[in-house]
Amino acid sequence: MLLNRLVDDCYKHWTPSAAKLYRIANTGIERSAEGAIVTDHRGTHFIDCACSYGIFLVGHQNPQVKYASQRQLNRMAWQPEGLTHNSQHQLSETLKRLAPGEWGDVRYTMTGAEAIEQTLRYALKRQLPRKRIVVMRNAYHGKTLTTMAILGQQYQSNQHGLNRVMVDFIPYGDFAALEHAITDQVAAVYIEPILGGAHLTLPEAGYNTRIRELCSAHGCLMIADEIQTAFGRCGKWFAVDYDNVVPDIMVLSKGLTGGYAAIAAVMYSRALIDRQPLDPLEDQVCGQGGLPYACETALAAIRAIEEGQLIEKSQAASTQLCQGLQLLAEAYPQIISDAPAIGLMTGLRLKGAVWENLISMELSKRGVHSGHSLNEKASAPVLRFYPPLTISTAQISQVLKALEESLEAVASKPRWMLKLMTPIIRNLYRIPYAMTPRSADQ
Ligand SMILES: Cc1ncc(COP(=O)(O)O)c(C=O)c1O
Repeated sequence: MLLNRLVDDCYKHWTPSAAKLYRIANTGIERSAEGAIVTDHRGTHFIDCACSYGIFLVGHQNPQVKYASQRQLNRMAWQPEGLTHNSQHQLSETLKRLAPGEWGDVRYTMTGAEAIEQTLRYALKRQLPRKRIVVMRNAYHGKTLTTMAILGQQYQSNQHGLNRVMVDFIPYGDFAALEHAITDQVAAVYIEPILGGAHLTLPEAGYNTRIRELCSAHGCLMIADEIQTAFGRCGKWFAVDYDNVVPDIMVLSKGLTGGYAAIAAVMYSRALIDRQPLDPLEDQVCGQGGLPYACETALAAIRAIEEGQLIEKSQAASTQLCQGLQLLAEAYPQIISDAPAIGLMTGLRLKGAVWENLISMELSKRGVHSGHSLNEKASAPVLRFYPPLTISTAQISQVLKALEESLEAVASKPRWMLKLMTPIIRNLYRIPYAMTPRSADQ
């Protein structure tokens, strides 16, 4: 009864495509979770490789994080006078210590999109008369009205008819396009140092470094969106650590509290702040960012990662998962194009959305949650595996076994069934028929 009502609500008010998938797959309601395991209302356990697209870095019900957030809730959740407070100050100091380079100010919002919006306002105001913004195609930076204007996933931004006159969308990973686009007219360049979402792509060596060089040469701000990659998700504290690149502005969220509270942080480099200090009112997008409860939770999650050496310890699970996915990609070339993977940010790029649906449903039957693309209209989507850093190698073995069995099951489906399902899936995700598999992703 309750399940039916929730799926109906999901269909009416949230995501019809997800609701249809839940109905077909007979998905349960998640009731509880512990570590890397989620349990539904029927008592069925799942290894959580979805983790709400990578948020739950320190695992579910992490005792340190739970204790710190509960303790702060017992004291004061919200900040009545809007003054800065000690936990916010401590969090800023901690982020400045962890991030590469010299940092000036840190500002907080509730969500990633608001944080990106804040950086856009800063860049457009401080870099006048420059009006151009360079953004990578398929990049995801949020869905508020302004962030929509710099959304590389054009099927989403086009719908709203926003004026994108100042935004140059360039293909991710294309060095020649960088050289052409980054000029003296550009105010800022937005980059996900590892392209996430349904398009998960690792850049070639030197790509982020070249962006840094070009931004410095032309006086553009390099703005690194590390909302998805930071705090160990990609195997290091920050994705820019792979290239020893220091951006002018860095945006963090998701793993910052391990998924226990809503917060995002914008870090401004020391040099930038010395040159162009923040205006206390004009540069603030959101009055509620960085509440004591969220800051204490973030501090506890960071302590859990640091003291528990979770990034170092997760390397064994990462190596096992990356190698396992690679082998499966080689074994099923008719279904999988490649297996992009770094740290515990991993996935299988599939030769069509139909495969993603079939595999994720088979995985679900075998007790594994995977990061499905839902509304991201990628015609060659990456089915993602973003487990918590605390996942054990024994659990990774279970995931790989379930995946092998799932691939075996979908590969043996009759061709007529795939033919039948392809238009249904296209319809479900509203992927236009005219799109060829790759052009849909451009
Ligand atoms: C790379 C990236 N940027 C921005 C955002 C937007 O963050 P939010 O959903 O908190 O607004 C996300 C969210 O998934 C993200 O992954």
